[in-house]
Amino acid sequence: MDKININLPQNGYDVFVGNKILKQLHKKIKTSNLHSNLFVVVDSNVYKLYSSDIDGIITSHKGKINILIIEVNEKLKSFNTMQKIYKSLLENDYSRDTLLIAIGGGIIGDICGFVAATFSRGIQYIQVPTTLLSTVDSSVGGKTGINFGNTKNIIGAFNQPNFVLIDIDFIQTLNTEELLSGLGEVVKYAFLTNKDFYKYVVKNISKVFEKNPRVLKRIINESVKFKGDVVVSDEKETGNRKILNLGHTFAHAFEVETKYKLKHGQAVIVGIASALFLSFKLGYITEAKLLKLLELIYLFKNEISFGIINKENAISVMQRDKKNRDGKIKFVLLKDIGNIIIDVEASRNEIIYALEKGIGVFK
Ligand SMILES: NC(=O)c1ccc[n+]([C@@H]2O[C@H](COP(=O)([O-])OP(=O)(O)OC[C@H]3O[C@@H](n4cnc5c(N)ncnc54)[C@H](O)[C@@H]3O)[C@@H](O)[C@H]2O)c1
Repeated sequence: MDKININLPQNGYDVFVGNKILKQLHKKIKTSNLHSNLFVVVDSNVYKLYSSDIDGIITSHKGKINILIIEVNEKLKSFNTMQKIYKSLLENDYSRDTLLIAIGGGIIGDICGFVAATFSRGIQYIQVPTTLLSTVDSSVGGKTGINFGNTKNIIGAFNQPNFVLIDIDFIQTLNTEELLSGLGEVVKYAFLTNKDFYKYVVKNISKVFEKNPRVLKRIINESVKFKGDVVVSDEKETGNRKILNLGHTFAHAFEVETKYKLKHGQAVIVGIASALFLSFKLGYITEAKLLKLLELIYLFKNEISFGIINKENAISVMQRDKKNRDGKIKFVLLKDIGNIIIDVEASRNEIIYALEKGIGVFK
C-alpha cells in the first residue's frame, strides 16, 4: 500500500492507495486514533456491487456503527439529501464523537464532507472514493458542498478529511462513461504536472480503458501527489490552486450549452483543447508546440462528439462562473506542460476563436 501525506500545517492527513485495501479500514481508523462511533454513508450503486465487502466492515466493527445507503446524482446533491443524513445521524443518537465514512464517487464525498463540516459543529470524516474521478481528484483537497438551484457546488465549506483510503479495485466496475469522466481530470493532471507523466498518460490511455491496475495505480498516485502539493500551497484557492481549473471554464459552458449531454470529463477534455488554442492565440505557445500538445487531446477524438453550440450563450455562461470577478472571464492557460498561468483575460474574438477551434477537434 502506498501512503501520500497531504502536508497541511493544521489539518494534514494521509491518502492510502492500493489494491484490496478496503478491509484495512478498521486498522487505519485505529492507528489514526479516530472515533469509534462510525456512521457509514454509501452510494446505492456501490452498495449493490460491493454489499458483501461493505457488510463485512459493518459486522466486524466492535463499537457503534450504522449504515445509510443513498441514491445520488447531481439533482440529489442537495439539502434534501443532507437532511436525510442529519436525520439518520440524530435518530441513531450520534453526536460530536462521530466518524463519518463516505463510500462512493465525488457526489457522496462532496455531500458527506459538508455534512461532516456542519453536523454538531464539525465531526471527523474519511473518504473512500470509488470512481476514477474521485480517486484522482475530488477525495483530496477538502472542497465539499452541494448544488443549489441551477448552480453547482455553490453551498459548501473547505473541510479536509481525516484520511482517504483509495482501493483501486473499485474502478473495475465503472462503465466507460464514468471512466471517461475521470479521464478528463487525468488529462488535466498530465498537462499540469510534468513531461514524464504527460508522456506516460499518452502512452497508457488504452490501458486505462482496459482498467489495468498497474497503470491506474501510477496515475492515481501522481495525480494525488500533485493535487496534494497544490492544496498545501494554497488550501483556500486564493492563488495557485486555481491551476486545477485548467479547461474547466470552457468545460462548464460546454456542459450547460449541450444541456449536459456532454459529460463533465468529456467537457474538460474539449475545454483543455480550447485552453490550448487560446494559449496559442495569445502568444504563450508556438504553433508547433500547440500541435504537439494536441496529441493527447486527439486520443479522445472517437470518444467525444460535439454538435453545434451557441457561442454567445457559452460566453454568457462563462461570465456567470463563480470564479470570476467583476464579470471578467479569467482563464487558466499554459506556456508548457507544468508551466501554467492563471487569471488570464481575453477579448471576445479570442474566446470565440478558442471555442471554435477546441470544438473543431471533435467534429
Ligand atoms: N470536491 C472536489 O474537489 C471535486 C473535484 C471534482 C469534481 N467534484 C464533484 O464530483 C462529482 C462527480 O463525481 P463522480 O464522477 O465520482 O460522480 P458520482 O459520484 O455521481 O459517480 C458516478 C456514477 O458512478 C457510480 N459509481 C460510483 N462508484 C462506482 C463503482 N465503483 N462502480 C460502478 N459504479 C460506480 C455512481 O453511483 C454514479 O452513478 C461532481 O458533483 C463534481 O462537482 C468535486
